[in-house]
Amino acid sequence: MLESENREKELKAAIKTENIPHHVAVIMDGNGRWAAEKGLPRYEGHRQGVEAVRLTVRNSSYLGIKVLTLFAFSTENWKRPVSEVNYLMSLPGKYLQSELPELIRNNVRVRLIGDSKKLPRRVQKAVNEGAEATKENTGMILNFALNYGSRSEIIMAVNRLVDDVKKGRNIGSVDEIIFSSYLYTADMPDPDLLIRTSGEKRISNFLLWQLAYSELWFTDVYWPDFSRLHLLEAIYEYQKRKRRYGSV
Ligand code: IPE
Ligand code: IPE
Ligand code: MG
Repeated sequence: MLESENREKELKAAIKTENIPHHVAVIMDGNGRWAAEKGLPRYEGHRQGVEAVRLTVRNSSYLGIKVLTLFAFSTENWKRPVSEVNYLMSLPGKYLQSELPELIRNNVRVRLIGDSKKLPRRVQKAVNEGAEATKENTGMILNFALNYGSRSEIIMAVNRLVDDVKKGRNIGSVDEIIFSSYLYTADMPDPDLLIRTSGEKRISNFLLWQLAYSELWFTDVYWPDFSRLHLLEAIYEYQKRKRRYGSV
């Protein structure tokens, strides 16, 4: 404990406040394995994962991160057993119900990215209410990626673009800026830093377009154990990277 407290102090002193990543995206992975290692059912891992979300949101906003995007449910996660899907679908509502007062106090703005129409009504309602209640907030944007899949987002963008052209919008030749404006992340900067927990080193259909030049940081820690220390480690490592964007 003492060792990690010392490390935290060290990191806080070393991190440069002027180079905090603007947008941090997180693939919150490893809830099931966290639970299995403790002999618990998978849903206990998801339940504990919500605690890690609470802490990470609080810490990110405190550190001055401007956009935090959390991958909470993918378009592929419907393949899981119905009971697990149902449990996962109960979490956004529970989280927002208990955290909304604090989110409002901390000036956090809640938003949803993903195909919300396919989410259960109660989930849509909870997230829309959270978004509505925080829409005037000017602090950190908290994006929940729910029923999010990057390929489906790109196809959705293409279809909406084609529709607009059919309706007579004069788009001319499509460039990266126009195309980006059709994505869920239209008015947001690309992630500077992607964090994935649980030791897996893949993107799993998350923000394929937006991650083009993001710095990637992987940790073996399971999501329910992800703490301020790990967030600080990720930012510290990020600040050591030299972002070249193809230049020298
Ligand atoms: C992340 O943990 C939560 C979601 C993907 C919804 P997992 O449930 O994927 O946990 P593991 O990867 O099976 O350990
Ligand atoms: C990615 O985790 C999706 C979320 C964290 C919501 P998965 O556990 O679904 O990813 P894979 O299946 O291991 O690639
Ligand atoms: Mg997983």
